[in-house]
Amino acid sequence: MQTRVLGKDLSVSAVGLGCMGFSHGYGKPTEEKQAVLMLRQAVEMGYTFFDTAEVYGTSEDPHINEQLVGEALSPVRNQVVIATKFGLRFDFESGKVPLPLIPDSRPEAIKKSVEGSLKRLNTDHIDLYFQHRIDPKVSPEEVAGVMADLIREGKITHWGISEANEEYLRRANAVCPVTAVQNRYSMMARQYESLFPVLEELGVGFVAFSPMANGLLTGRYGKDDTFDPQYDYRAGMPQFTDEAMDQNRQLLALLHKMAEEKDATPAQISLAWMLCKKPWIVPIPGTRKTERMNENAKASEVSLTPAEVLALDEALDTMEMSAVFGGTPCKAKKMDTQTSK
Ligand SMILES: NC(=O)c1ccc[n+]([C@@H]2O[C@H](COP(=O)([O-])OP(=O)(O)OC[C@H]3O[C@@H](n4cnc5c(N)ncnc54)[C@H](OP(=O)(O)O)[C@@H]3O)[C@@H](O)[C@H]2O)c1
Repeated sequence: MQTRVLGKDLSVSAVGLGCMGFSHGYGKPTEEKQAVLMLRQAVEMGYTFFDTAEVYGTSEDPHINEQLVGEALSPVRNQVVIATKFGLRFDFESGKVPLPLIPDSRPEAIKKSVEGSLKRLNTDHIDLYFQHRIDPKVSPEEVAGVMADLIREGKITHWGISEANEEYLRRANAVCPVTAVQNRYSMMARQYESLFPVLEELGVGFVAFSPMANGLLTGRYGKDDTFDPQYDYRAGMPQFTDEAMDQNRQLLALLHKMAEEKDATPAQISLAWMLCKKPWIVPIPGTRKTERMNENAKASEVSLTPAEVLALDEALDTMEMSAVFGGTPCKAKKMDTQTSK
């Protein structure tokens, strides 16, 4: 697969693999052996960028995804870039069901997190360490100061911020240069495009999470699809309701049309649209199916001209579209705090 550079010097495959779904949020966790096999197949396909977090799991077993990624990738550790995240934890004291996730970026919490992640990932360094959510109680300067310490100690080599805003990014970057921001971004959730000029100015990369609007933009889901509310957070997402399927008819038709023109699939068009927009955008679609990993990787070979990207943007600006989880304003569903991670 082609590579891209995040920040100054972090080379990653143009499409990364979001690993969360193996353990959380998209149905019952994948059986461990099967998941390990698939992650190794992903490496053979050319993926060199893998995204996990210390809280991609359940409140009973919050670190299961990091363990899985560590087990799968340790034999090829020097060929891959591993991104993981700190700064969110299950609030065991709350007594609430399900347990909410709360931000916690106190320096002592970060230092504990990094040791746990290194151990679970079976590595001596983390390539890209993301602050998962901004902690309103800790300043960006303090978090960036801890990152600078971790870089000096060799425990991490690069750092980033997830769900960053301009002010936080600028202040953090002034203390310790930020390699990438990881925010939600898809054809249905474009609110962070306003940050692009700032990223360009600062030389910070953009890692797009939920780049296919949790699967909707692949065009493979319809009114007949139902999701298990206990294990699959799409059950509560506004873009998967029957009404939304009607509202998104035009969007899906546009994707299908462009896919036909480019001899590609709608999933590939939804990724190629952002890949062709900026050379420093790297989507990290998640899938638990080998053939879809391959399909998504090949999005990096689909070429859209600047005029085609612009035409898609203009169409997206004006067409009817449903609300999307985490994007356009939508009513909070019961799983929001557990799953928006
Ligand atoms: N920083 C954060 O706060 C944050 C938040 C959310 C996610 N993330 C990261 O971003 C990654 C990706 O986000 P996401 O998984 O939420 O959303 P996504 O990548 O937009 O969508 C994933 C869904 O799309 C389906 N899918 C993937 N490729 C497909 C294809 N070619 N055809 C049809 N369906 C396809 C998957 O189902 P199948 O498995 O059945 O293929 C899965 O249900 C996560 O794994 C995680 O690493 C980060």
